[in-house]
Amino acid sequence: MNDVKEEIRERLAVEDVVGQYVELKRAGRNLKGRSPWGVDKTPSFMVSPEKGIWHDFSANKGGDIFTFVMEVEGITFREALEKLAAQAGVELKKYSGGDVKVAERKKRASEALEYATKYYQFCLSRNKKVCEYVFYKRNLNRQTVKDFRIGYAPATGKALIEFLQKKGFKLEELEMAGLLNRFKTDLFRGRMMVPFIDMNGVIGFTARVLDKSEPKYLNTPETILFNKSRYIFGLVQAKEAIRQNDFVVIVEGNMDVISSHQAGVREAVATSGTAMTEKHLKILSRLTSDIRLAYDGDEAGVKATERAIMLAGDMGINLSVISGYGDAKDPDELIQKDPKLWQEAVQNKVPAVEWLLKEYEQKLDLNSGDGKREYSNVAMRVIGYLGDAVERKHYEQLVADRLGVTVEDLLSKKVSEGKQRRFLKKVKSEAENNQAGALEDNLLALVVYGGVNAKSVELPEDETKLAELELIFTKKYGDWNKEALTKEAMELEKRLADYDKKARIRELNKKLEQAEGDEELTDKILREITKIQKG
Ligand code: UTP
Ligand code: MN
Repeated sequence: MNDVKEEIRERLAVEDVVGQYVELKRAGRNLKGRSPWGVDKTPSFMVSPEKGIWHDFSANKGGDIFTFVMEVEGITFREALEKLAAQAGVELKKYSGGDVKVAERKKRASEALEYATKYYQFCLSRNKKVCEYVFYKRNLNRQTVKDFRIGYAPATGKALIEFLQKKGFKLEELEMAGLLNRFKTDLFRGRMMVPFIDMNGVIGFTARVLDKSEPKYLNTPETILFNKSRYIFGLVQAKEAIRQNDFVVIVEGNMDVISSHQAGVREAVATSGTAMTEKHLKILSRLTSDIRLAYDGDEAGVKATERAIMLAGDMGINLSVISGYGDAKDPDELIQKDPKLWQEAVQNKVPAVEWLLKEYEQKLDLNSGDGKREYSNVAMRVIGYLGDAVERKHYEQLVADRLGVTVEDLLSKKVSEGKQRRFLKKVKSEAENNQAGALEDNLLALVVYGGVNAKSVELPEDETKLAELELIFTKKYGDWNKEALTKEAMELEKRLADYDKKARIRELNKKLEQAEGDEELTDKILREITKIQKG
């Protein structure tokens, strides 16, 4: 694995890889540009061609070409490796003995799906009735149909199989690609075909009937290429816009994505035919922190929204919600009325907490004891997800007022339920993590390259990390004198200790929840928390 990484690194210049995403200008020995995460006001993104590394001072991220592609594309290491290997003209096969078979199978499946897509596209162009459905009934234009590679699967039972067999594909290969049904004939028949595309090409299809028959959509099953719990429909087409405008809109249906793109809102994606998973959220949160949910307005959509908010909350991610499509049931319907309405709707985001509180105010009878209890349960849970103390206080007050109780009542309720969610962020909030990470990097840079002493740090041995620290040192502290460096290091140590203290308190609060009912243990933990707070 290290060999192949090395070979790719040798062949690809870091400035060329990064340059595909960031406009770089020379600045001395380094290159400079704007953060691809759009968080900087002045260029704060540096690349060192000599060392083969990059560092983003505003987002506090850095590393080599592999980490860059992972971060910027929101993909796994393996995917970044494959992508860069292809760019470098390095054959991964040579290096991965055991994986050869799998890689070879994937390649065949991928080729079959590519041919299938072209075949379906051809069939669409030849069928007047289907063209009518696609272009007039669904109102898609030629460009959209081309961009999303929409096609048509003929209704005859073996048309695709015969076509692909002529191209030299074996039945097992087509099965592996997910193109066959259990009778080993064409899975997709008489349907509008929308390919699932990822950065390597077509990995499957979602297929819609042209009339009212059931099932409305048929999707490729899980295959060696298609994994629905991590696939995000439209991401390939949306990525550029998401990065540029720094937000993403998650809609429910694949057709909503397509319509949205045609309507000029190119930040739309969907979790194709499945509920949102942690993996989906992780991938998207690497691209932007502004995640907007725009599920259907019906009961199922509202439920899915609620679920997504809680899931994201557990992961330390805050969402917002786009609603108010009037009487349109989904974004596609709204766009059919007028694309402008959708363009405006995506700008009207409501924080998840507010949206949820409103939902429950409508759903529950807030004059009854039962209603009040349920309302405060949900409210305290989502409020607990908020990273900012002031914001939390704001909503606690709001809920207390709404229920005619005091904030203390609300908080005591939490304690008595052993929830303590206020302290209980399962995940350290991203921002805090980032800040602590930045402080730590600065301190390390001072120790390694500034000759300053610090007791609390462990020196990294990883070369990429060291090179990154050197970059940080040169940029931030290059012209400081010894005294200033020492003072800065002390200050950094103090602030880091503070973060550490907070983290320990968070840990103890977690234990506190588990100790529910055990008075002696609860007492002990509370004493420890007080000690840390004072100390
Ligand atoms: P919808 O029924 O809301 O889709 O299902 P839609 O986009 O509004 O469809 P149109 O406008 O009638 O064509 C939302 C998503 O749920 C999955 C699909 O991924 C769809 O995009 N789904 C729905 C299925 O997988 N199978 C089905 O039978 C129905
Ligand atoms: Mn629809």
